[in-house]
Amino acid sequence: MLRLVKRMIFLSGGALLVISSLGKVWPVESKNEYVGSDQCAVCHEPQFELWKNSLHSKMYQKSDQPGAILGDFSVDDPVRSFRRDEVAYTIGSRWEQMYVTRRNNEEFLLPAKWLIAQKKWATIDDTHRQNAPISKTCHGCHTTAYNPETNRFAEMNIGCEACHGPGLRHVQTRTPATIRKSQNPEVCGACHTRGKSKEGLDYVVKFDPQANRLIDMMAFTQPEKETTKSWWSNRIERDRHQEYLGYIRSRHARSLESLQQRAKLQPAEVTPKCFTCHSSEFHMAKPLKRPDVAGLRFGVTCVECHDPHGRKPERAQKRASTTENGLCLSCHFVPKVKGHLKEAHHYPCPKSAARCIDCHMPVTGLSASTFNIRSHTMQIIPPHEAQQLGMPSSCNNAGCHSNKDFGWLKRAYETYYSHKVMLRAR
Ligand code: HEC
Ligand code: HEC
Ligand code: HEC
Ligand code: HEC
Ligand code: HEC
Ligand code: HEC
Ligand code: HEC
Ligand code: HEC
Repeated sequence: MLRLVKRMIFLSGGALLVISSLGKVWPVESKNEYVGSDQCAVCHEPQFELWKNSLHSKMYQKSDQPGAILGDFSVDDPVRSFRRDEVAYTIGSRWEQMYVTRRNNEEFLLPAKWLIAQKKWATIDDTHRQNAPISKTCHGCHTTAYNPETNRFAEMNIGCEACHGPGLRHVQTRTPATIRKSQNPEVCGACHTRGKSKEGLDYVVKFDPQANRLIDMMAFTQPEKETTKSWWSNRIERDRHQEYLGYIRSRHARSLESLQQRAKLQPAEVTPKCFTCHSSEFHMAKPLKRPDVAGLRFGVTCVECHDPHGRKPERAQKRASTTENGLCLSCHFVPKVKGHLKEAHHYPCPKSAARCIDCHMPVTGLSASTFNIRSHTMQIIPPHEAQQLGMPSSCNNAGCHSNKDFGWLKRAYETYYSHKVMLRAR
């Protein structure tokens, strides 16, 4: 249920007035194309309710919001040199939480953060500069439609319009054509990335996935010969918010291309059915509104696996039948598709113990001083590679075989995988 029942009145001048049941009236300038998530809730309650429970709506919170502060301020701690009443905003609530104070109309980070799982304070590293205002460095990804020129944003947090674009015209017309809706991975990639924009900022400004390409607006971090802060030398992500960069290196990002290539070589083989697993754009369209395959642009994208409105496992749960591998198995190892891999003899571990993501999406990215973030390249990291680079491997991460030494892991891997042939369906 919506807490506020709202009524909207459209004035002839185009200005929009919103009257809540509490009797508060606030005008939204007609120049302003953004209306805020509360406005969308009026007609899209299911999406709003899901989003309210997601992390996107909780990234940047006022400290007086009930439950916003997770850190323990009840006892003195030498690491934390500030008081609870200095905190104006919190950043994050899953892996770690940072704290923001206001001075001279600007926002600054306080010098300690709370590690949520470890339940302890830690000092903030240099990269999160304590003495410079954070609006220009952080708001680009933690708020909606931040404009560094005016130092203003449309809404705290990742609101509906962060992904759907400005909504005023849509609210006035109520037609699908006036709002963006796309499976384009760049919608997510605008924030789940790392690099320098044309303006020298850490995020892209006024990015419109329908008109721009991300790659034209930002120089992404790149893997190098040696391991860097952002990348392991084997081209696996090492820092947070690089999911898009890992993803574009996986074959999920190229799954439409390989089908189109096949269609050129063996046109008779490729039917519209093939696209159900090879293109999210096709798969996720309503059956009667499936786009023409010739005009498809995207392969398997973020929203295939993530519900854009809800917490991450939701879409996975929908497809998971009896095992947690349901999401992956809805496309992989489907025995009837000719030329495709079979699951048989894929791995020696019991099915109940090892999930696809334990091996194919190991935790390689740092957040809260621990490897917590999963790789989106889908690459296996064999134990010998992990030992050489000092990184988590596919065999010992997320709790699996963490009690075994590298000698055992390498022997087990070589025994099982050295002669492995991937079986294909005929
Ligand atoms: C006054 C009612 C109303 C408000 C407010 C409203 N919408 Fe809609 N929205 C609609 C209607 C009606 C449709 C068309 C539904 C259909 O055709 O099935 C729609 C469709 C959509 C779609 C689907 C478009 C597509 O291509 O299928 C999206 C996405 C959407 N709205 C997002 C938003 C967002 C974001 C906001 C807030 C900025 C918002 N809506 C506010 C009425 C509204
Ligand atoms: C390019 C976009 C981007 C920029 C710029 C950015 N962040 Fe983030 N940040 C994210 C994303 C996305 C996540 C979620 C983690 C992930 O996707 O791997 C995140 C996660 C975090 C978290 C952990 C949240 C949690 O729930 O544990 C903190 C704390 C954080 N960011 C602080 C900052 C600060 C402080 C700045 C500015 C100095 C900043 N970020 C700049 C995109 C960004
Ligand atoms: C993180 C990005 C993101 C945010 C935030 C977001 N959406 Fe969406 N939304 C999407 C994407 C992507 C789709 C298309 C998904 C698909 O095809 O299944 C979508 C689809 C929709 C649709 C079409 C019906 C459906 O559920 O597929 C509506 C309506 C909608 N969103 C409304 C909203 C409203 C209202 C909010 C805010 C409360 C919101 N969205 C927040 C990305 C987002
Ligand atoms: C405006 C920036 C922005 C956009 C656009 C964006 N995200 Fe995020 N996303 C974030 C930030 C910041 C966080 C971290 C939230 C936190 O930790 O509190 C996050 C967190 C997440 C999480 C972790 C949530 C959880 O419950 O574990 C997922 C999954 C995610 N985003 C997927 C997506 C997808 C899919 C899209 C595109 C449809 C998308 N994001 C678009 C900024 C963004
Ligand atoms: C049930 C989901 C599904 C369907 C339907 C599907 N594919 Fe695939 N396809 C996959 C998956 C998963 C992979 C990657 C792993 C593998 O090879 O099994 C893949 C890989 C491929 C590859 C690249 C791998 C290689 O061998 O070079 C091609 C080409 C391909 N598929 C063509 C097709 C064609 C043609 C069709 C229609 C006859 C089709 N696919 C239907 C899921 C599917
Ligand atoms: C093939 C499925 C798949 C695709 C495609 C995918 N993800 Fe994920 N993602 C996952 C799974 C599975 C997890 C781990 C969930 C868990 O640990 O519960 C995850 C985790 C995440 C997280 C949480 C932090 C982390 O890394 O553990 C974020 C943020 C995220 N994905 C964003 C994205 C974005 C953005 C894209 C597109 C560029 C994307 N994902 C594409 C399956 C996928
Ligand atoms: C919508 C269908 C779909 C879903 C869901 C899906 N995949 Fe895939 N996956 C594909 C297709 C199609 C390819 C092959 C692309 C190609 O080569 O053309 C692929 C490729 C791969 C590969 C090949 C390795 C590489 O280099 O990228 C791995 C590993 C993989 N997927 C693992 C997973 C895991 C793990 C999950 C679940 C978290 C998953 N996939 C979910 C369709 C899917
Ligand atoms: C115990 C670890 C483990 C588990 C669990 C696992 N895999 Fe794999 N997988 C591997 C290894 C090892 C390889 C082959 C070596 C490589 O890709 O470098 C492989 C290869 C693959 C490939 C072919 C990649 C290519 O480059 O052609 C696909 C696709 C794949 N796995 C999908 C899955 C899916 C889907 C699941 C869950 C049902 C899964 N795997 C579960 C270890 C695992």
